[in-house]
Amino acid sequence: MPLLDANATHPITLPDGTVYRDTVYLKAVVDHPRMEIGDYSYFTHSGKPEDRAQVLAPYLGHACRERLVIGKFVQIARGSYFITSSANHPMAGFTTYPFRIFKPETFGYKDLPVKDTVVGHDVWIGHGATIMPGVHIGSGAIVAAASVVVRDVPPYAIVGGNPAGIIRMRYSIETINELLDIAWWDWPLDKIEANLGALESGDLEALKMA
Ligand SMILES: CC(C)(COP(=O)(O)OP(=O)(O)OC[C@H]1O[C@@H](n2cnc3c(N)ncnc32)[C@H](O)[C@@H]1OP(=O)(O)O)[C@@H](O)C(=O)NCCC(=O)NCCS
Repeated sequence: MPLLDANATHPITLPDGTVYRDTVYLKAVVDHPRMEIGDYSYFTHSGKPEDRAQVLAPYLGHACRERLVIGKFVQIARGSYFITSSANHPMAGFTTYPFRIFKPETFGYKDLPVKDTVVGHDVWIGHGATIMPGVHIGSGAIVAAASVVVRDVPPYAIVGGNPAGIIRMRYSIETINELLDIAWWDWPLDKIEANLGALESGDLEALKMA
């Protein structure tokens, strides 16, 4: 039996047979015109699965212009969320009060620039992280618990703190480039599972032969 089921809402069944309801595959529960979620990306949180989009990106309304794009195999821990572009109040003038959001006929600051927030593949976002508007997080990155990510994160970097800085790179630049070329997250699931040993042990030569 395959280890993963891309269509599951609750992908984790505990050893005693109970389904672990706090972890959900986002793709199964998020129906939002400004969010794109890849297969197998999960978010752990208590509460109703259908509320996950609101918890994950509390300021991303359906009418917003920016997008939140999350790749495949992304792991998002409890308490983490994305503050997206439309959360910004106008700052160019003498007041930040958002006078124009209160009535339908004036709603929206169409002149304010917005930026998409993009998370690559196989990114681990630790407990209670905040991702600020427009940030791009490269594949294979790790965001340390309680970090506030204000700048782009290179692939396979570990970032932490507020503002989050690079703690270290996980691999050499050569290995990172090889891993990005291999892009195992795009393989069919049976190929991923057949090469799990190489993936989990960090055997680059075996992955290249796969
Ligand atoms: C990022 C993380 C993976 C690093 O683990 P590690 O490699 O074992 O790191 P270390 O404990 O050796 O710390 C390395 C450095 O990072 C710093 N660091 C670790 N966690 C940090 C954090 N959350 N914020 C800021 N800095 C952090 C350490 O202070 C240390 O700094 P130093 O080298 O200046 O002393 C881990 O600290 C973390 O945040 N894990 C997330 C756990 C989690 O949230 N789980 C939720 C369920 S999935």
